[in-house]
Amino acid sequence: MHVDVGNALAVEASPGVPEDALERLDDRVRDAHEHIVAGMTREEFGYAALNLPKTADPAAIERAVEPFADSEVLLNVGIGGSALGAATLVDALGGDLDAHFLDNVDPEHVTALLEDIDLSQTVVHVVSRSGTTAETLANFLVVRDAMEQAGVDWTERTFVTTGPEGNLRDLADEHDLPALDAPEGVPGRFSALSTVGLPAAALAGHDVEAILAGAREGRAALTGSLFDCPAYAYGATAYALDVRGAGINAMMPYAESLETFAEWFAQLWAESLGKDGLGQTPARALGATDQHSQLQLYRAGPRDKLVTLVRAREREDRGIPDTELEGLDYLAGGSLGDLLDAEFEATEASLAESGVPSVRVEIPRIDERSLGRLLYDFEAACVLAGELYGVETFTQPAVEWGKDAARGLLSGERGLPEKTELVVE
Ligand code: PA5
Repeated sequence: MHVDVGNALAVEASPGVPEDALERLDDRVRDAHEHIVAGMTREEFGYAALNLPKTADPAAIERAVEPFADSEVLLNVGIGGSALGAATLVDALGGDLDAHFLDNVDPEHVTALLEDIDLSQTVVHVVSRSGTTAETLANFLVVRDAMEQAGVDWTERTFVTTGPEGNLRDLADEHDLPALDAPEGVPGRFSALSTVGLPAAALAGHDVEAILAGAREGRAALTGSLFDCPAYAYGATAYALDVRGAGINAMMPYAESLETFAEWFAQLWAESLGKDGLGQTPARALGATDQHSQLQLYRAGPRDKLVTLVRAREREDRGIPDTELEGLDYLAGGSLGDLLDAEFEATEASLAESGVPSVRVEIPRIDERSLGRLLYDFEAACVLAGELYGVETFTQPAVEWGKDAARGLLSGERGLPEKTELVVE
C-alpha cells in the first residue's frame, strides 16, 4: 500500500501538521509499536488480530465452504464486524455468487429479500462471535422459518462461525451444523481476515490464501517509524490532524467496488477510537460521485476535516467513443479510467489549493492480495492511532450498552431512562 501524506503537511493546510511535528510524533510511534509488538507476541486480546495473516487457516476455510460450492446465493447473517469485513471483500472482488449481507432487522427489507432469492440454492452463513446478538439470531430464526416453509432442509444449507459459547454454538451443536471457530482474542471489527470474513470470499470463488498473503506483507511492513511504514503513516497522520482540529475523516474511495470498504473503515475507526471524549468521526463518500455533492462542504465548509482519497493504480478500462458533439474534444481518444483519474487528481489539487488536508492511499489493483494488504494496513493504522490516543481500542462499551438495553426492553427486565420530550406535530 502506498500512502502519501504530503497534502496534510502543507503549510497552507488547515488544520495541518508540520513535518517537524510528525518527526517528534515518531518517537511516540516507536514506543507504541513496541507495545503493539509485545501485545502481538503475547496474543493479547485485540493485538491478536494483527497475527491473523499467520494464524488463520485458509485450508480449513476452504474445507468448510466446499460442501456449499454449488450454491448460487449466499446469505451472510451477522451484524457489525460479523458482516462488514465479508461484505467488503465480496463487494470489492466481485464474482458470480449472488451475495447478501443480512445485517439489519428491517422487516420490509428482510421479507423482500427472502421473497427474491431461491432458498433451495442458498447457503446461509450465520456469524456471531458472542453467539448472542439479538439481530443476528432473530434474522436467522426468520430465515430458518422461511426455508422450512419453502420445503428446504435448512440444516443442509447452513454453517456457522461463532465462539465457544452462546446460543449460536448451542444451535450448531443441537443440529450438528458445520461450525468454524471465531478466532480467539479478535474483536469483530478486526476479524475480516479470519473465519468471520473469509468464508464469504471463498464461496465467491476468491483465493483466501492470496488475501492472507497480502495481509502478511502488511504485517512484515510494520516497523517502528511512521516514515517507513504506510499503515503507521496513515494512523499517525490522521491522529495528528485530529488533535489539531480535523475531527472528521472523510473516506473517499474512487471505485464503486470499494464503497463497502468505506463502510468497513467507518466501523473500525468509530467503534475502536470513539472513547473517553476522543476519536475522529468517519464520513463516507464515493469518488467521483460525491464530487458533485459532499465535496462542496469538504472544500469550503468548516476546517475540521481530513479527506482520505483511495484508488487502485490499475483497473480494467473502457474507452469513451468519439462524438459529433461540440466542445467534448477533451474526451476524444480517452477512457472512463482516464476521466476518473483526472477527477481524483483534480479533487486532491482542489482540496490542497483551499488548504484542506488530504491523504492519498493507493493499491496496485483491486485483487485478493491488495485487498488483504489494504484491510490489514487500516487495522494496523487504527491500532496505532488507539495507542496514540491512549484509548481501549478493542472494547466497545457503548455498543454493548445498546445491546443490553434492547434485550432488557424486549424481555421487560429493564426500562429506559426518562426522556425529555418536546413534541411538535
Ligand atoms: O466489532 C464489534 O465487536 C461489533 O461490531 C460486533 O462485531 C457486532 O456487535 C456483532 O457481534 P457478534 O459477532 O458477537 O454478533
